[in-house]
Amino acid sequence: MKTTLIKDILISNPDGREVTVYGWVRTKRETKNLIFIQVNDGSCFASIQLTFDHDTGIDSETLAQLKQITTGASIQATGTLIESPASGQAVEVRATKLLVLGEAPADTYPLQKKHHSFEFLREIAHLRPRTNTFGAIARVRSQMSYAIHTFYNDRGFQYVHTPIITTSDCEGAGEMFQVTTLDLEALAKLPPKKEDSPTPVVDFSRDFFGKPASLTVSGQLEAETYAMAVSRVYTFGPTFRAENSNTTRHLAEFWMIEPEMAFYDITDNMDLAEEFIKFLLSWALEKCADDMAFFDARIQPGIIDTLKKVVSSKFVRITYTEAIKELEKNANKFEFKPFWGCDLQSEHEKFLTEKVYNGPVIVTDYPREIKAFYMKLNEDGKTVRAMDVLVPGLGEIIGGSEREEDLKHLEERITDMNLDLADYWWYLDLRRYGSVPHSGFGLGFERLLLYITGMNNIRDVIPFPRAPKLADF
Ligand code: 4AD
Ligand code: MG
Repeated sequence: MKTTLIKDILISNPDGREVTVYGWVRTKRETKNLIFIQVNDGSCFASIQLTFDHDTGIDSETLAQLKQITTGASIQATGTLIESPASGQAVEVRATKLLVLGEAPADTYPLQKKHHSFEFLREIAHLRPRTNTFGAIARVRSQMSYAIHTFYNDRGFQYVHTPIITTSDCEGAGEMFQVTTLDLEALAKLPPKKEDSPTPVVDFSRDFFGKPASLTVSGQLEAETYAMAVSRVYTFGPTFRAENSNTTRHLAEFWMIEPEMAFYDITDNMDLAEEFIKFLLSWALEKCADDMAFFDARIQPGIIDTLKKVVSSKFVRITYTEAIKELEKNANKFEFKPFWGCDLQSEHEKFLTEKVYNGPVIVTDYPREIKAFYMKLNEDGKTVRAMDVLVPGLGEIIGGSEREEDLKHLEERITDMNLDLADYWWYLDLRRYGSVPHSGFGLGFERLLLYITGMNNIRDVIPFPRAPKLADF
């Protein structure tokens, strides 16, 4: 069954050529002589209109099929492509034949109303892609993936597939999902090994990998090994965090883009991050114009202008110390009082981007205590060469740094953070043999999509969200 997508039919010449339309019915409307059907196949935002005319005759078979049509039914229809007399659409199909491929009984099909709440739609994640909003998100998500590969491919980066299952904790934060084939129920029933130990001690040598393993929180460490061989790399894949964050910006499973570059310092890193974000926003504005027009009209008025402004502006760059000074001046505005050494809270990030600088801000040189072990220590011995990109409405969208390339310093940092040096033997080898200055960062893909679409909840920009107590599909 070779079909033509509605997006291609819509841009064809309305010269009376015969076309066959495949898709799902959005609406059906009747006047005395005419029957109008809006059909959508998700290939683009717009639906195509089929018009059946009693005056020119509708055969009895098609008439019977037309009776079965309700919102959500799938159909195949044939007719001629003509210029549309109606406003808002260039072409329509003067249809003569119709076949219902799959009915959608009106008494049970859940997508009846024009507007459903996002909460309700989350409960029917298997049907929500058929709505305007989720169709648009699906297309933008796909376009952005393509844009990401294009950006790096054009700049000499190699795409590296870092592992999903890992035995090292990249962020050193311990928020990892364990991967095991051990029978947990059977283990729970085992008597404690010692009188005073309440739970049985797990023998991981009997587990699948012979030691504890988890789902990765980041592909960075493995990406670094390839940057130390082929200079510029990136990973783009799913990452997993078992943090108990029930917010509109956190998922337990999210996608991350992580470039890693040999011979890049923190300034090169910031330049790349800024160029990358601007490239992606421009791509969305240009290649997803219809979907962006929808987000601008229905989801976040003004989003197109905001993104255009970001593309043509220079990102503000400040140090953490400067950021804290700015926040301390306004200390009374915060629930969590800012002080040098504190982790920036989302209220602080929002204040900096929305009230002080009114645009994206790159914050650098954070205190070593609140950042990961792999970040390069500055000469002051107190701060590390970290860089977070913060944006209005969201807060952190990118986290990255120049990496510690000095073996001694890195070993100290690992030990300081109570991590086991032995677990990082291969990562330390990269500093033992041919170590070079290098940098990288991670862009949260769903945070990027929130930023571009103006959607409010991160659970709505990934097809099947995973969060605490949420993995229904
Ligand atoms: O700042 P993070 O934790 O950095 C890293 O994982 C580094 N290893 C990246 C690197 O340097 N290669 O996470 C990076 C980004 C954040 O800025 C945020 O956009 C996103 O990942 N992120 C999340 N997105 C959704 N849900 C979560 N739970 C997220 N945690 C982080
Ligand atoms: Mg971070």
